[in-house]
Amino acid sequence: MSELFKAPKGTYDVVPPFSALWLAVRDALSTPPRNSGYGYIETPIFEDTALFVRGVGESTDVVSKEMYTFEDKGGRSLTLKPEGTAGVLRAMLENRMDRGALPAKVWYTGPHFRYEQPQSGRYRQHTQVGVETIGSSDPAIDAEVIWMAAYAQRNILGLKQVRILINSLGCHECRPGYRELLIKFLASCDLDEATRARAQINPLRVLDDKRKEVQTQLADAPLMPDHLCADCTEHHEKVLGYLDELGVIYEKAPRLVRGLDYYVRTTFECVHDGLGAQSAIGGGGRYDGLIETLGGPAIGGVGFGLGVDRTCLAVQAEGIQLFDEAATDVFFVPVGDAAITKVVGLAGLVRAAGINSDIAYDGRSIKAAMKSADRSGAKFAVIVGEDELANSSVVLKNLADGSQENLPVDSLITTLLDRLV
Ligand code: HAM
Repeated sequence: MSELFKAPKGTYDVVPPFSALWLAVRDALSTPPRNSGYGYIETPIFEDTALFVRGVGESTDVVSKEMYTFEDKGGRSLTLKPEGTAGVLRAMLENRMDRGALPAKVWYTGPHFRYEQPQSGRYRQHTQVGVETIGSSDPAIDAEVIWMAAYAQRNILGLKQVRILINSLGCHECRPGYRELLIKFLASCDLDEATRARAQINPLRVLDDKRKEVQTQLADAPLMPDHLCADCTEHHEKVLGYLDELGVIYEKAPRLVRGLDYYVRTTFECVHDGLGAQSAIGGGGRYDGLIETLGGPAIGGVGFGLGVDRTCLAVQAEGIQLFDEAATDVFFVPVGDAAITKVVGLAGLVRAAGINSDIAYDGRSIKAAMKSADRSGAKFAVIVGEDELANSSVVLKNLADGSQENLPVDSLITTLLDRLV
């Protein structure tokens, strides 16, 4: 026998019964955007490599180390999307959504690819539900985006251990001055070679260093929220005010820096305390300036990306039961060859009436078929044998209490609809 293939390193298959949870999570995360005026958008899985280099930033880990880049047969450099924002903005501009009614708001879901060191909660292919909005600088839309994430996680999924961390990273006016201050401060610290180099290229990322020896030295580091210009301060305060109005509980996180270069002003992360190292189940923020960088007009934008895989882990960590395990309500048991034809037709009618049902295939014995019925979690078995065929009836068996009755076949659907409410 040949050896079985395995899923590529850092990837996994979404198979039943876990897939039911996965779908329920993806649905829950996309419910607030669908209820808040966001249209669905789907973009290619690969894009020009240059889009990510320009859009996400050359110095980010995502672009410099983690991209799946390849040359196609036409000699083009393409990259499997490592994140959603750059491709979605490219599509919005290409489809002239910046010229229509603004703000334009879209949501999306799909796989993203990063060549990372795999561990629990960190994969080489992961799925996000994301939103992007373009054409508004109103802080109320930042609050809308954060509320949608928090509402899906806390209210729809019922997660209790989620914290929403919020920061402002300033703008192109006030951040350069702060950056200089921070570089000066970092130069006075006793940092290793690699961190020193990082401090030169992207000093804000050093603030996010999780190592204790680094964090102790950073206790007195200057923080962005203390150095915001008047406009950024006003924007930040308004966002926080709207969140209070929406009843979103958040924590101010003056050291929060995200791994992608395009953020300005509002940035946020949703962290789950039951997940260990890979605790970010979502994040996002404002990216004024990015649309211009991608060749579009000087309009603002804000969005989020929520991780479906990690959110599933969070739901499991809290032991939340999202759905009734059984997807089948009715299980058909044909007894004898002639009954099979009748049952195939009946199951079609029952399914068309919206009743979840399944059939015992392969001419199984009644004993084996009833075992399958029990295992399926169905509430009723519908048994059809020679007698039932002869007098156009079925046997309806309640699998919970074992009681059974004979019904005219014509009343099967109405009886099931009645009993299954
Ligand atoms: P991100 O923080 O890089 O942001 O990713 C969003 C979420 O995707 C993370 O919070 C995490 O839950 C999940 N995620 C990321 N990488 C992995 C991985 N390797 N394995 C499992 N889950 C992962 C973005 O991608 C931005 N595009 C979000 C955004 C949209 N900002 C504005 N608009």
